[in-house]
Amino acid sequence: MPEQETVAEKNFYLDRPQKNQVFPIKGCHNTDWGLKNRLSRIFHPRTGRSLMLAIDHGYFQGPTTGLERVDVTIVPLLKSADSLMLTRGILRSVIPPTYRGGIVLRASGGPSILKELSNEHLALDIEEALRLNAAAVAVQVFIGGEYETQTVNNLTRLADMACRYGVATLAVTAVGRELTRDAKYLRLACRICAELGATLVKTYYVADDFETVTASCPVPIVIAGGKKVPELDALTMAYRGLQEGAAGVDMGRNIFQAASPSAMIQALRLVVQKNFKPQQAYQFYQERLRKPRKRRSKR
Ligand code: R5P
Repeated sequence: MPEQETVAEKNFYLDRPQKNQVFPIKGCHNTDWGLKNRLSRIFHPRTGRSLMLAIDHGYFQGPTTGLERVDVTIVPLLKSADSLMLTRGILRSVIPPTYRGGIVLRASGGPSILKELSNEHLALDIEEALRLNAAAVAVQVFIGGEYETQTVNNLTRLADMACRYGVATLAVTAVGRELTRDAKYLRLACRICAELGATLVKTYYVADDFETVTASCPVPIVIAGGKKVPELDALTMAYRGLQEGAAGVDMGRNIFQAASPSAMIQALRLVVQKNFKPQQAYQFYQERLRKPRKRRSKR
């Protein structure tokens, strides 16, 4: 028999009303607990920002430079990434299940670099995403491209499935060669993705009017890295994007193709999570390049 308890022995903190915490992720305050919890694995709850490491390139271009051996080059970087964007194949075969950051699973695919890239279809079931404990599923959307309607349809179907289980949907705005990558185009593409169900959007940074892209997108934007540029330029792009309203970066080649991927991801982390200015972060990068941190010897 449970012991008889009296009200006098209990403490109900009657003088302390229960507080409602403000959820720090843009546009996500009305979502359910499960989705908020998954988003908190992607975005650091203290800053609301994410350093997402993108290594999903293999799904259309095979062993990309820097990703030939993910176990050798990427696994040591994981401790510096808030979240990881990748395919189920690499996740299952190479990434240690002890990784604690948010998993963003590539869910669209089809054509390789040998074909028309925009002709993508969904390439993942929501059950597989749940089995792999994904925080988000990611789909490429080609606004203005030849397969615009098909890829928008991929987004809406994926968002329906993901919503059912409280999984976030990341829409990646891909800009075809024939389109101009400017704020006007990105406003259109990002807004369409958010209106149609994306929980977060990955898009490119542009020097002019990027703040109008983030302002008119009601959900968080993470900045795509794009082709490898000098390290200071990549740090500057990240800094400006964040100052102009982005909630993080989703970078691949500018990290794993850097002269020192480990120094680069740490420098980027200082920009994203500690508000370092680009020059300060670059100085840190150069110091690490000259004097890599000594590894403690195991006895
Ligand atoms: C598709 O185009 C994907 O989003 C990429 O594979 C990847 O995430 C791009 O990363 P980055 O441009 O920073 O190398």
